[in-house]
Amino acid sequence: MGVETWLLVATVAVLAWLYSRWRHSYWSSRGVPSPPALPFLGHYHKAFFISRTSWIFYNEMYKKFRDSSMFGMYEVWNPILVLWDPEIMKHIFIKDFDHFTDRRTFDLDTGNEREQMSMEMLTMKTGAEWKNLRAIMTPTFTSGKIKSMFPLVCDKADALVKFSMKQAAENPHVDMKNNFGRFTMDTIASCAFGIECNSLVDKNAEFPRKAEKFFLASFTAIMKIMLYLVMPKPFKFFRAHLNPSETDFFMDVIRKTVAARQGGKKRGDFLDLLLEARDDPDNPNNKQVLGELTIVAQSVLFLAAGYDTTASLLSFSSFLLAKNKDQQHRLRDELRQMVAEHGDITYQAIMEDSAKGVARGGANGAMAPPNSTHLL
Ligand code: HEM
Repeated sequence: MGVETWLLVATVAVLAWLYSRWRHSYWSSRGVPSPPALPFLGHYHKAFFISRTSWIFYNEMYKKFRDSSMFGMYEVWNPILVLWDPEIMKHIFIKDFDHFTDRRTFDLDTGNEREQMSMEMLTMKTGAEWKNLRAIMTPTFTSGKIKSMFPLVCDKADALVKFSMKQAAENPHVDMKNNFGRFTMDTIASCAFGIECNSLVDKNAEFPRKAEKFFLASFTAIMKIMLYLVMPKPFKFFRAHLNPSETDFFMDVIRKTVAARQGGKKRGDFLDLLLEARDDPDNPNNKQVLGELTIVAQSVLFLAAGYDTTASLLSFSSFLLAKNKDQQHRLRDELRQMVAEHGDITYQAIMEDSAKGVARGGANGAMAPPNSTHLL
């Protein structure tokens, strides 16, 4: 290469570096602390790469910036504010929520059904569209509905114990994250759709295999998201896709379940709620809002949103209980006491105990003060 070519390459590299530095000065120019960022990548490699799981990164940042209540990071170019101060969070989620209803949206290839479906999910909607859809979905979680789901959850919890004990008898190690994933998938599918996935009966069942692949943060999946973040328009233009092929499995299951419901017996579950809202004669507009793909999208979202979140919560809770035996004993004692008082672990008993936790000063059960005996 001649000198001119080298000069050109060097100039482009310096300009790109300067551009990156300028994009990564967003937080410092606003006085928000931010850890050193890699040119171009920002903190993407730390927050997303599998070698150092993201929670380790966030945990370190929390310790480092604890006193500032927040820190700024960059997902490639995009500035992200991470905060944990309950007072600021109250503003965002409650007092000033009107300003924070929208999440980031993805502009994906609508020529592909999987991508189009994911864009119909509640989490992708903004403004009034989100509000209307959310109002339809919220009644799934009324106390009456949760109470009626409770026996189904208990059945799946019993199946989880049986499944795990059988594994423990055969192997010295049991992968509880995997088992909790099976438990959550079976529970949500049963409560919200009346679908039996059999993940806790058959270790080779199709549902958990598909779910695991669906959530696998493979190298290709991470690279694709990164490419999308850097170049969303070319990404769409070249018809690259974010949703894995396993999405089809879940869409198919939901479609079959919806078809089976037409004219069939009502269960009063999440799916019925969506179908009833669609056919509501008092709201004729709902028919347009809740098209077939939108109903499929909310259902797939429900399966996906509760799966890894709940499985992770259960894994971390069990891990911490295993590490903190005194807390484990406290929990056992509380549960024994509950069974002695109520005959079993019932919905009502948990709600009463939770209310006691609030009365003792916690904002809810999980936030009860350290001197409280409340653990559930
Ligand atoms: C411990 C378990 C869970 C955790 C930690 C969790 C966490 C979250 C978080 C942080 C959001 C907000 C996401 C955002 O704003 O981008 C969210 C939204 C959502 N979650 Fe969960 N979730 C859990 C369980 C579940 C379950 C079991 C379901 C359903 C069966 C569910 C369904 C949803 C839905 C539908 C949304 C979207 C709400 C909206 O846009 O209005 N989640 N969840």
